[in-house]
Amino acid sequence: MNESDLFEEFPRIEYHRRPFAFARLRDDYARELAHVAERIAPDLDGLPPQEGMLGWAGPYGARFSRYNLFLLDPAFDRLLVAVRATYRVLREAMRMEPRPQLIYAWQNIHREGERIGRHLHHAAFIGTLAARAEGSETRFGLSRERSDDDFVVPNRDGQLILTLGQLHYHETTPWPRRDAARVTFAFDIVRRKGEDHHPLQLPFDA
Ligand SMILES: [Fe+2]
Repeated sequence: MNESDLFEEFPRIEYHRRPFAFARLRDDYARELAHVAERIAPDLDGLPPQEGMLGWAGPYGARFSRYNLFLLDPAFDRLLVAVRATYRVLREAMRMEPRPQLIYAWQNIHREGERIGRHLHHAAFIGTLAARAEGSETRFGLSRERSDDDFVVPNRDGQLILTLGQLHYHETTPWPRRDAARVTFAFDIVRRKGEDHHPLQLPFDA
């Protein structure tokens, strides 16, 4: 696949206490993925949520370890290509050698007033694609509590973000729209013992 068919803006690096890779995927692909997320959502409802997560992560974030979007629908194949290209830019900026890791992706659907509470992942790298999220912000910070030092990202549809996961808290603002749900995708790249592993993860950067 030609990467220029995928990216509206190629990955670039910004430093906000941690390195962030930002890219932008084409609008039509972001819209397509939002529709796919809503189409497959009923199939995910029967999966058991992780204990205690429904309240702050939403129905599909709370089931993050029960499915892997990269295995679930071919519409996500291009997202994996984009994540890999974005990851490579971040890894090279960090002067990090390739190493065996695992990747998986899940979706988040939020309705009016809903948000993702502040949390962190046990993952080497964390990423997100805003499919339909304009009008909300995502905050990243290094403390458990919200802080003036947080890096606040206005979500733009098609925006792909990849950054370091260790001790990297994040949260979103409440979704303001009633006419359409907020749809985002999240992915973790995990490596060693002690990070979150489950059987549906795929080899990445091996
Ligand atoms: Fe998260």
